[in-house]
Amino acid sequence: MSVKQFISENQQRFIEELFELLRIPSVSADPKFKDDVFKAAEFVKESLEKAGADQVEVCQTAGYPIVYGEKIIDPSLPTVLVYGHYDVQPADPYELWDSPPFEPVIKKTPRHPEGAIFARGSADDKGQFYMHVKAFEAMMANEALPCNVKFMIEGEEEVGSEHLDIFVKENKEKLKADVVLVSDTHMISLENPSVTVGLRGLAYMQVEVIGPNRDLHSGTYGGAVGNPINILCKMIASLQDENNHITIPGFYDKVEEYSQEYRDNLNKAPFDLEAYKKELDIEDVHGEAGFSTIERVGIRPTLDVNGIWGGYTGEGAKTVLPSKAYAKISMRLVPNQDHKEIAKLFEEHFKSIAPKSVKVKVTPHHGGAAAVVSTETPGYRAADLAIQEAFGKKAIPTREGGSIPICALFQKELGLDPILLGFGLDTDALHSPNEHYGVKNYLMGIETIASFFKHFKEEASK
Ligand code: BES
Ligand code: ZN
Repeated sequence: MSVKQFISENQQRFIEELFELLRIPSVSADPKFKDDVFKAAEFVKESLEKAGADQVEVCQTAGYPIVYGEKIIDPSLPTVLVYGHYDVQPADPYELWDSPPFEPVIKKTPRHPEGAIFARGSADDKGQFYMHVKAFEAMMANEALPCNVKFMIEGEEEVGSEHLDIFVKENKEKLKADVVLVSDTHMISLENPSVTVGLRGLAYMQVEVIGPNRDLHSGTYGGAVGNPINILCKMIASLQDENNHITIPGFYDKVEEYSQEYRDNLNKAPFDLEAYKKELDIEDVHGEAGFSTIERVGIRPTLDVNGIWGGYTGEGAKTVLPSKAYAKISMRLVPNQDHKEIAKLFEEHFKSIAPKSVKVKVTPHHGGAAAVVSTETPGYRAADLAIQEAFGKKAIPTREGGSIPICALFQKELGLDPILLGFGLDTDALHSPNEHYGVKNYLMGIETIASFFKHFKEEASK
């Protein structure tokens, strides 16, 4: 039987197995789900074993484990290292989901007329890394595995991959490979398949503005004592100017400026601004002056408030001048911007703009570097050929705005450019309520991955 035929004949089972994994609420950010995160790691271990991997182990770390497995058919053949993550983002707010986040169901959407799997983690990243397990199973079952393969599936990606760093540094020999293959990104569409060649980095901060030593009556004190929420809002507003440039001194110092030719090329990718606005129900887009939407997301850094709180937010009205105000602020970074340096610049600046009437505390959370990968490698060529075989079209190289900080780690520690062969769509609602992943994307992804292995063997030995 051909690998393609095997995938087609087993598609129902492949979907049901993914459903089982999606039922485990492996939310890494919330300690409440600790047991479930470990349970998901066990599930990954068992699925790798069943698919035919050797040396499968749940490698404990100081945080959540990394599941490793391999199949070495011949040490002289090229080796593909597959990376993915079994942890998911929190599902809150639950009330905005049309069906429960950990009870997967298939529903049709305008972009997935053949149905999509709705569940937290369906696209990010359970549905995507599981394609690799199934592609591997299909190749094994048909004695058609062309290369060696190693799997490294972690459980802390959504909280900054804190312990992966040490694991990679301590296990360089074990992880030795010729390419890293990652499916944790988007493609433009099934009609316009693409391969991601750039991701942004991230610096994530929490700020606290501290005013009077207690909440005050806003009549007795209002107008005379600094209100931390008013002040925090003013401070945040001043972080961007009228052109939506970030005002933190030194922020742009290392930002790479691209040639007009590079930008023109980037803007050639199919993109329908009207459909984009319509899908988000917005009248207009918003961003840095002088750049297109594709550029704003792909090659420019940003600053966004992720959450802001303080004071009274309950029912009705309470007249209060709060003692404290908080915000979580993230900056998406581009190549050459160092997240630790940016965090420091942010902290210095944020403290410097605070009026004397308040104190300011700044705490950095996780961060990570941006990554850009070459299109001139055997890995990229194999991805392009696999896309051509499955979709009948050449892959469009795109730069995406999300972050997978460990990509830069692979480049630095293993000397390998990750191949970002993702099959999600930008409308799949990652990190949002009603996250979903197209059934067709899932099945075509499995097929394309198997084809990647075949082409990689050829390309790597050229
Ligand atoms: N799968 C995403 C990254 C992604 C999303 C890439 C969309 C391309 C397009 C990944 O799981 C993720 O969400 N990463 C976090 C970073 C992490 C340090 C919390 C992100 O981008 O917010
Ligand atoms: Zn992800």
